[in-house]
Amino acid sequence: MAKIAVYMTGGIALYKGIEVIRSLEKSGNQVRVAMTESATKLVSPVTLHALTHQPVLTTLWTQNDSPVPHVELADWSDYAVILPATANIIGKMAHGIADDAVSTTLLATAISKVVVVPAMNSNMWNNPAVQRNIKQLKNDGIKIIEPVTGLLAEGYQGKGRLPEPGEITSQLEAIISTQNSKQLPRKRVLITAGGTRERIDPVRFIGNRSSGKMGIALANAAADAGAMVDLVLGQITVPEPVNPRIKIYHVESTEEMQSAVTTLFPSANILIMAAAVADFRPVTIAKQKIKKVDGQEQLGISLVKTTDILKTVGAQKRSDQLVVGFAAETTDLLQNANKKLTNKNADLIIANNVAGANGAFGSDLDQITILQKNSEPIFWPKMTKVNVAVKLIQLLATKVK
Ligand code: CTP
Repeated sequence: MAKIAVYMTGGIALYKGIEVIRSLEKSGNQVRVAMTESATKLVSPVTLHALTHQPVLTTLWTQNDSPVPHVELADWSDYAVILPATANIIGKMAHGIADDAVSTTLLATAISKVVVVPAMNSNMWNNPAVQRNIKQLKNDGIKIIEPVTGLLAEGYQGKGRLPEPGEITSQLEAIISTQNSKQLPRKRVLITAGGTRERIDPVRFIGNRSSGKMGIALANAAADAGAMVDLVLGQITVPEPVNPRIKIYHVESTEEMQSAVTTLFPSANILIMAAAVADFRPVTIAKQKIKKVDGQEQLGISLVKTTDILKTVGAQKRSDQLVVGFAAETTDLLQNANKKLTNKNADLIIANNVAGANGAFGSDLDQITILQKNSEPIFWPKMTKVNVAVKLIQLLATKVK
């Protein structure tokens, strides 16, 4: 079990942090807490002291027996979780500022241990300065548990809300179990993410609603598990991952994606086709912009089938390679997904329902069912895509040769 230092800063979501601390302790972890001055205005350190049976670090100048309490706590911890992390502490961390017990201890903590759980008003979260700082933290190798979209303390909807305590706890536990055993050392994982675009003319294309979130979450999870990742990216609506273990290849059309996958597949141990790939493309791409013609009420575009990348690769895969596909369905989920498992010769199909407002496209959440040959389907409860990704990579690590 891990030694976890929890750094609480002055956000109203602090009360959720208390529940996370209780759950972490219940699963056998040791927790010690440090608080900023603003955090102590929201909850008394006495409460945290009573919960953890450990003194709470609030100042650099007095307290316990250690002459350098910040270094002592930094060295003691296996993990440092900033919960909730305000825009202020995120800014300090991004710039190496150490002007109180929390920021100073964090500066003395090895980057690989640090997990930041931001919570703030959506306008603050979307502020370019905060986004720059978050990017900097990611660049430095710090893990971020992303805030979710929902009702904020201010009474309106927006992104910036702390995930529910159960979700934070399970993400932290997933991080801890991934760190404890690097499950994919010396493995190469090839992942496609986002949507392909098929050009119609110089200004138009046929595309789809894929955000790339799931594929990118899988790439991060595989890199965290010790793998080298080749990430073939189509169109995405979220930031690209920044990680020295992830190499990105940009593609636009299905043909370009196929060419990248074909080149990279021979050296991959695992292929995960998380991309939403166009099934048809225009027979010809008009050289000039297609213009309206007077009196013309309809326009037809002839389409031709694209190559099914997963099927092509599935037919060629070696016995030491694992091939995973996704099935995005709006009806008869299991039946359709099962067909894909057989037709595409995949080892696993991850089936998800993309129908209606609860569908997976663009959402942070996903409810998946895992299909494997000669096995019963495995239903996973609804959880964040980040969590699905970590758990899927753990599952694949048990199967890869
Ligand atoms: N896929 C692929 N190449 C294509 C189309 C799909 O590699 N030309 C992959 C996707 O990346 C996904 C899986 O096949 O992993 C299933 O994709 P999906 O869109 O759900 O199904 P399709 O095979 O396109 O079938 P349909 O559209 O009829 O449901």
